[in-house]
Amino acid sequence: MSNASLAHEVESIIWFHSIDLGGGVVTPGIKSPEALDAELGRMGLPEDLSGRTVLDIGAWDGYFSFEAERRGAKRVVALDHYAWSLDHDAQRRYWAECQARGEAPLPYEQVPGLFDPTKQPGRRGFDLARARLRSSVEPIFGDLEDIDAGALGTFDIVFFMGVLYHLENPLRALRRLRQLTAGVVIVETVCAVFPGMEDRQMFEFFGTDELNGDPSNWWAPNAAGLDSMCRAAGFRDVVHVAEPSPDDPPHPGYRFHYGRAVFHALA
Ligand SMILES: C[S@@+](CC[C@H](N)C(=O)[O-])C[C@H]1O[C@@H](n2cnc3c(N)ncnc32)[C@H](O)[C@@H]1O
Repeated sequence: MSNASLAHEVESIIWFHSIDLGGGVVTPGIKSPEALDAELGRMGLPEDLSGRTVLDIGAWDGYFSFEAERRGAKRVVALDHYAWSLDHDAQRRYWAECQARGEAPLPYEQVPGLFDPTKQPGRRGFDLARARLRSSVEPIFGDLEDIDAGALGTFDIVFFMGVLYHLENPLRALRRLRQLTAGVVIVETVCAVFPGMEDRQMFEFFGTDELNGDPSNWWAPNAAGLDSMCRAAGFRDVVHVAEPSPDDPPHPGYRFHYGRAVFHALA
């Protein structure tokens, strides 16, 4: 494919990740190259992953999977289903219509025409990047909440980046992740600060689109809640790599602060 036709194809896709495809083409992700660079820096991921196996839960366009491969991982599996099933153009139109009507959007999988697990319209970006990068990352279409964990095997490192708050049953999912890893799960998530309650183990629930206008955001744990849920799921230790400060001010328009945390949950 010429660089011109690659650029044309890239433009026809809604990208979550900015991925350098070579030939001067970088995909225009919702997450900028700078934001992804900063996230990588915060992950605490070893520079050399030679000989390691990596599972990327919620891989979307695959930025973190491709990075693990670039760092020498011997096997990388990219698992997703939600973003791959979603027609992102149709979802954007639906969301804008809801805003115009002053209504909260329904969970997208409940809206006719937005979801197609058979054709997987939201996977075009991942497939294009994988082909262009001549990557051997293995895509698996699956929902962490009901995939057969035994059939997947175990991995040295599991990326669980930006996924926890989308799950209906986070404790059950973390138990599954415990089964899936022999090493570490890198948990990156929204993390709330409830002032004066730092010692309480809390998860705030969002029944509709209250958190960032996204009806697929269900939960925001505080740091103690996340730590305690990882331990309850069977992890022997939890390292707090990054978390919001108790002094962080509430978000404009919100009662609490919603920052990001990175925890390493050790098997
Ligand atoms: C906010 S995006 C994060 C994407 C990427 N991990 C990152 O950090 O840039 C959330 C991702 O989690 C995926 N996801 C949500 N629920 C999931 C589930 N039950 N099983 C697997 N993936 C899921 C979505 O499809 C989406 O790709």
